[in-house]
Amino acid sequence: MKFFIDTANLDQIREAQDLGVLDGVTTNPSLMAKEGIKGQDNILKHYVDICNITTGDVSAEVIATDFEGMVREGEMLADLHPRIVVKIPMIKEGVKAIKYFSDKGIKTNCTLVFSAGQALLAAKAGATYVSPFVGRLDDISQDGMDLIDDIRTIYDNYGYETEILAASVRHPMHIIQCAKIGADVITAPLSAIAALLNHPLTDKGLAQFLADAKK
Ligand code: E4P
Repeated sequence: MKFFIDTANLDQIREAQDLGVLDGVTTNPSLMAKEGIKGQDNILKHYVDICNITTGDVSAEVIATDFEGMVREGEMLADLHPRIVVKIPMIKEGVKAIKYFSDKGIKTNCTLVFSAGQALLAAKAGATYVSPFVGRLDDISQDGMDLIDDIRTIYDNYGYETEILAASVRHPMHIIQCAKIGADVITAPLSAIAALLNHPLTDKGLAQFLADAKK
């Protein structure tokens, strides 16, 4: 399973990279705004800075919602760095844009996916990644993991190569559940990834070993 970090914060990306378990980065306009990145030039530079920290794919989201605008923006983003993945929302024009980029060999991440039907469309259009938002489904009392499970079944039934990138992951149990189902990738905040480290018996056992080593 690949681990992506879901942030535009360079320090957190560096920390995850240093841990040695980072396979890529996802961003979105809200995460960029959270870091105070404004203006097209600064935004484009920030994507390049992220690419220079991680060795994996970096999702950069288009703002346009029409086909021509998405193609224009997506081509500009893809030209920034070979590891940029053009992130495109699951709307009608977005499906057309995913097909366009797929035909040109440019990687895409279909975002804002909340149903199995949307994920099927994204795969048929040739998306590299599909991003079902598990946490936001949980927020409205629908089990986000059921969606991951349904998409896994559908993709396996037909051998679709689109990778399931479980997004809106909020805590370590989301990561474990995704791994059990067989999601290809999770994208999560650093806090959720780091929380996988913790177990009180590990701390207690280590304290004992260190105390015994002094005897
Ligand atoms: C995915 O690519 C999104 O950036 C992200 O996971 C959304 O997460 P949120 O629901 O916590 O905002």
